[in-house]
Amino acid sequence: MNKLTVKDLNLKGKKVIVRCDFNVPLDEQLNITDDRRITESLPTIKYILEQKPAKLILMSHLGRPEGQVVPAMSLKPVAARLEKLLGQKVLMLDDCVGDKVKASIASSSETVVLLENLRFYKAETKNDPEFSKKLADLADVYVNDAFGTAHRAHASTEGITHFLKSAAGFLLEKEMKYLGMAVENPQRPFVVILGGKKVSDKIMLIENLLKKANKIIVGGGMAYTFLKAQGINIGKSICENDKLDLAKALLDKAKAAGVTIELSEDYLVVQDFGKPETKKYVSGNIDNDWEAIDIGPKTIEKFKKIIVSAKTIVWNGPMGVFENDAYAGGTKAIAECLASLKGVTTIIGGGDSAAAVAKFGLEDKMTHISTGGGASLEYLEGQALPGIEALTNKPAGGCCSCSCC
Ligand code: 3PG
Repeated sequence: MNKLTVKDLNLKGKKVIVRCDFNVPLDEQLNITDDRRITESLPTIKYILEQKPAKLILMSHLGRPEGQVVPAMSLKPVAARLEKLLGQKVLMLDDCVGDKVKASIASSSETVVLLENLRFYKAETKNDPEFSKKLADLADVYVNDAFGTAHRAHASTEGITHFLKSAAGFLLEKEMKYLGMAVENPQRPFVVILGGKKVSDKIMLIENLLKKANKIIVGGGMAYTFLKAQGINIGKSICENDKLDLAKALLDKAKAAGVTIELSEDYLVVQDFGKPETKKYVSGNIDNDWEAIDIGPKTIEKFKKIIVSAKTIVWNGPMGVFENDAYAGGTKAIAECLASLKGVTTIIGGGDSAAAVAKFGLEDKMTHISTGGGASLEYLEGQALPGIEALTNKPAGGCCSCSCC
């Protein structure tokens, strides 16, 4: 990455503002149900604190409050979790910009401050320059560690970089290292595993990866559109009927590029989604009133054979409805296969695939699990991420790490 990183900055005595992605899931009692996005930002936070800054000001969005103050989307639960993880007090503010915020930061003896949800202001998602300037006015230097939001050109990710020297945090660097390696320079064979409901969500991804991968495995709901396009009866399985021509075209493109798209051959089907006791395995065609909800044992074996021959694997999207234990077998088998590999780089896209790996307790067994669903998808599609593009370039000839930064 040709961008400044947090290590290139002299932070001693400075006010440092850091954009994190603390958009964590909360239950109805506002308890955090998965704090990986917080724990993954700790290396940057701890490193900055070791440099003895005057202040470390953290900011994030949570949910989509659309410019309204929504108490259920306050970052207060994040402040409490951060205090526990850091073992030090975090000053939680009830706003994110303005004189009152400035005064509270200045008068507090606490070093670590968490601003309230940026999206309580519409100006954040509108990338309003005045709002960006107000955020920038709180600090001397800016660090972006919010990979999960790097695909958004918002005031706290893009706009602020027009006012402050801007560097990448360690999480952003790590994400770029692994995802970048997969798309730029993968060790081969490079196998991509795709799943999830819709072909339409993954068109750009497939088109970009066709130029890079050796094999693409397609499971999950999107496989049934490809299977129907090949003339297979898919019963009442999920299908985008308006994307059948597109699915055919993608299969032809893959053939022309010398890349095989491997599809499921047998499936777990049910007559009634709410009645797992009706489930059975079928191969080939699916009868009209049956619905496929997972891959079958023959497909699992076929996919595993391909996976164990790979040196680099990117996985984006589950093989079936893994949230329901009765239909989780295919996704679990693929996750376990990846987890068993040695000397292979396994990269898990954020979102559902990351949730599946967590559900099966295999997080420690993967090389890298992205903290960004939409961001990792857009990066793998070959799109530039505005939150990364906007960071300050390293000076020609490299950064000298002197006090000029
Ligand atoms: C995410 O959860 O994908 C990121 O935090 C971005 O959230 P958004 O899709 O609401 O911009």
